Amino acid sequence: MSRDERTRKQAVNLRLVSTERVGQRHWLLRLTSEEQLPRMKPGQFVEVLAANSPSTFLRRPISINFFDEAANELWLLVAAVGDGTRSLTALEPGQEVNCVLPLGHGFSMEKGKRRLLVGGGVGVAPLLYMGAKMQEMGDEPTFLLGARGKGDLLEVELFRRWGRVLLTTEDGSAGVKGFVTDHPIIREEPFDFIATCGPLPMMKAVARVARERNIECEASLENLMACGLGACLCCVEKTIDGNLCVCTEGPVFNTRRLLWT
Ligand code: FES
Repeated sequence: MSRDERTRKQAVNLRLVSTERVGQRHWLLRLTSEEQLPRMKPGQFVEVLAANSPSTFLRRPISINFFDEAANELWLLVAAVGDGTRSLTALEPGQEVNCVLPLGHGFSMEKGKRRLLVGGGVGVAPLLYMGAKMQEMGDEPTFLLGARGKGDLLEVELFRRWGRVLLTTEDGSAGVKGFVTDHPIIREEPFDFIATCGPLPMMKAVARVARERNIECEASLENLMACGLGACLCCVEKTIDGNLCVCTEGPVFNTRRLLWT
């Protein structure tokens, strides 16, 4: 397979290797294929067909949580919040899942940057793969992960494999009490770059801190998506360059381009 073919998006039937419950409402799906999967970048996503859910007509956009190229294994961290995603978490190992991948533009990944990776809720998902790729490049990420409570923190031990992990919880049950922007590291340590993904108010607050400190910041937006291909326009975001489709122009944007204020 040529390099172009290895990076081109494609629809594939993946075989479910395992499902594992993570925290209270999330599941980790590990998927593989007989064919070598295309290369994927941190921040890209997959459109997944929930074939066993008659009420779910549209594919679900799900971030790439991790891609193990050697094992040819793709990990998706799924929040079981609707019929479609619940049906995915009920699949048995060996069953097939149709996915279109890899979609969108991921995070900037130049070597040698001091990066802070800030995630909230299931928004932590793409940061795991990003941290792994950073370590592969010789850089050590710092992860700042936030959640409502200790039981809502996701994949903390996996994050520790790839870098330094700092936590915040709103109820104070783990790490610093409060929001990610209440953690002193975000204002005190020198960073060249902040990557963030999670609830919109959290990303806006992170972007504000980054702007105050003159740090480059990229956010992975989780706008509603239907087609994932730039056709339905339901994912449009206002930017300094006009209205852009998050599914094709993002989901990762430099926050200076976003009209968030
Ligand atoms: Fe249809 Fe983006 S999801 S245009």
